[in-house]
Amino acid sequence: MVAITFVAVDGLEQRIDATDGLSLMENAVAGGIDAIEAICGGNAYCGTCRVHVDPAWRAVTGEITEIEEPMIEASGDTDPGVRLSCQITVTPELEGLLVRTPASQS
Ligand code: FES
Repeated sequence: MVAITFVAVDGLEQRIDATDGLSLMENAVAGGIDAIEAICGGNAYCGTCRVHVDPAWRAVTGEITEIEEPMIEASGDTDPGVRLSCQITVTPELEGLLVRTPASQS
């Protein structure tokens, strides 16, 4: 299990024990993170699974991928740490990861 913390706009912190090999979105939904709606089921079409990766973790989670770009652009989310959580695969290296969920998903 990989410990990951989600921080809501109101400051509420929720820690989940994520399963590696699944996406961050799948783990968030399974872990009851309400701000991750994931309407499209992980196909990078809805933008309702966005997270803002804490600056300390951006090198580990990586850059926005080509698949994510159109949806992130359409969302108007300009946070420097924005990613689609459905496109981040949980690995043991993400132990301790901290992400924030955007106001538009609260
Ligand atoms: S679940 Fe829809 S874009 Fe990630």
